[in-house]
Amino acid sequence: MSSMRAWEEVKNRVREVADIVQVISEHVQLKKAGNAFTGLCPFHGEKTPSFSVNPQGQFFHCFGCQESGDVFSFMMKYHHLTFPEALKDLAQRYQIDLPQRNLSHAERERMQQRELLYQVNQQAAQIFHKTLVSSSKAQAARQYLQKRGVPQEAVEKYQLGYTPGPENGGWQFLISHLQKKKFSVDAIEQAGLAVQKTQGRYYDRFRDRVLFPIYDMSGREVAFGGRILGQGKPKYMNSPESMVFSKGELLFGLYQHRQAIRSSRRAIVVEGNFDLLLLAIHGIENVVAPLGTALTREHITSLRRYCDEVILLFDGDSAGLRAARRSIPFFLSEQLDVRVALLPTGHDPDTLIREQGAAAVQALVEAADPLTEFVFSVLQEEHGLTLSGKNRIVAELAELVKQATCADQQELMAAHFAEQLGISPQRFIPEKQHAKLVQVPVPPVSSVPSCTAQYAPSHISGTQSTLGFPTPSDEEWRWEKTLGEYEENISLRELPKKQQQLLKFLLFYPEVLSDLPKGVMREAFGESPVLGIVEAMEQLAATGNVTPEKLLSVVTVDSDRQYIVELLSRDGGNPLAEEDDAMQGHKLCDELLVWLEREKMQKKRADLQARITSAQETKNSELVDTLTRETRELFGIRRETGT
Ligand code: UTP
Ligand code: MN
Repeated sequence: MSSMRAWEEVKNRVREVADIVQVISEHVQLKKAGNAFTGLCPFHGEKTPSFSVNPQGQFFHCFGCQESGDVFSFMMKYHHLTFPEALKDLAQRYQIDLPQRNLSHAERERMQQRELLYQVNQQAAQIFHKTLVSSSKAQAARQYLQKRGVPQEAVEKYQLGYTPGPENGGWQFLISHLQKKKFSVDAIEQAGLAVQKTQGRYYDRFRDRVLFPIYDMSGREVAFGGRILGQGKPKYMNSPESMVFSKGELLFGLYQHRQAIRSSRRAIVVEGNFDLLLLAIHGIENVVAPLGTALTREHITSLRRYCDEVILLFDGDSAGLRAARRSIPFFLSEQLDVRVALLPTGHDPDTLIREQGAAAVQALVEAADPLTEFVFSVLQEEHGLTLSGKNRIVAELAELVKQATCADQQELMAAHFAEQLGISPQRFIPEKQHAKLVQVPVPPVSSVPSCTAQYAPSHISGTQSTLGFPTPSDEEWRWEKTLGEYEENISLRELPKKQQQLLKFLLFYPEVLSDLPKGVMREAFGESPVLGIVEAMEQLAATGNVTPEKLLSVVTVDSDRQYIVELLSRDGGNPLAEEDDAMQGHKLCDELLVWLEREKMQKKRADLQARITSAQETKNSELVDTLTRETRELFGIRRETGT
């Protein structure tokens, strides 16, 4: 059997036995609601559930952030896995054998290598932990932790460890332990736990340090942070990047504290490992710490899955705080609120909480200022509000605005800062982008209701001014033309983009359907292969609300069902693309309504014309006059003002 076929088979078997509700409910609290299950979306912050899991269709969909997909894409998105990893994970769980031998050589090597590094790290964590807890070589370490206020429960909870220094354990304490467990020194080095000094001579990377294991979001040990016991340099040392560890993506404590963060909808970011530890020990458990780096976009994206708000609990002149400025655009793009709580001079969270208790820290957190305000006031202090000071502030802020990922956020930031400085927002927007931000004229037939205004969720309607679709002229404008790229026998996948967009839009905003005149969809989709889907939606819309679940339960044609799921799952990872599609959908709906209005008018005109002709034939001049006046009123006025 070819390796492709073998994989297909595993995939199909997993798909058959894996239950999406079971898999997802291990990560998200789900409640049964009709045929589906709902819960709080793990992919964006929310307080009311818009995440829905469909057991019949075996897919999930979030009506808030538009994430959707099947059990595989859930695993991939949730745990940051590649497809083969997700497949392997699920296959193992449901005891389905993987065609290891059918993997491509490179794939197999990579997978085995990663697996090996997980094992090395896991074993190392055990050795370190056991050493700390029970070795006579770790007496000083135990005392150190006690002195720093770390009780035994915390040592257990965080699986803290210790590795002795050369005078106590030699240069190869860990290496020799791991070698006894049959790990090669090569693997230990690749995991970042051994360093090669001279040719052939390896020694432990970590010596005489208290160790903090770092977990990935599946709870596997992937790295360590180590603090030296005494003075010595460097004070902290982390594992280097490896096949299983990327500093810029992981946050210390996120794995252990994910529930606390999720339930409080808030994450407190501190800079140090002990800060995190001490806060948690004093009952503030929704805390994370980057691993000696500034917050990255990936950090912020991963926090987004657990909370709506981030508090940076930093010391006033920390490097982290200066760096935080640059992360404003990331916070904005994740729609994650971020505030800054400044520590009293001379304190870090560790010392503050030990001296003044959790209440003092909580008070700081509650009183935290939004990061944007904070940055602004720092700049104001730095440069002053003289003319040249303002100029310098504008220059610095413009840099920030430039980093925002879309015009929408740029506008938001620009408006915010402009108001503070009493200047025009345009000063923050790079020249070439001015055009995009100009308000676009409304479509020609103003009597047509706009579904954009009515139905767009707030985050979409806010971007109307950047939509910028051109107003088509009367002559070249044709709805048929827009949708009519359809050709006979076209496969579903090759469905014209416009139809795809409209259909997808309707799947996400089915409420639009109940407001559209009956039969519109038949006209719009004509002989499209998805007409069946659209009509099913129309029928559902007439009886109540259309949901993907309901739709899947009434659509019986296999290819149609597949297509629905495909549409729901596509571009799942890219909210911007989704938003674009939604915009496109609104636009199409608007166009559709405009077109219908026009059709109606044309019919009316033809009808009036026919009646005039017959009135002329019967020489009913009074009726001819009335009808002519009516015609003029209906179309004359429109011709003058409308187009
Ligand atoms: P700090 O130097 O502020 O130390 O480092 P701290 O957390 O207060 O340390 P204690 O309380 O003396 O133990 C903050 C964080 O920066 C990283 C570590 O993650 C540390 O927790 N760091 C610091 C390094 O990675 N390397 C270093 O040499 C120092
Ligand atoms: Mn400290």
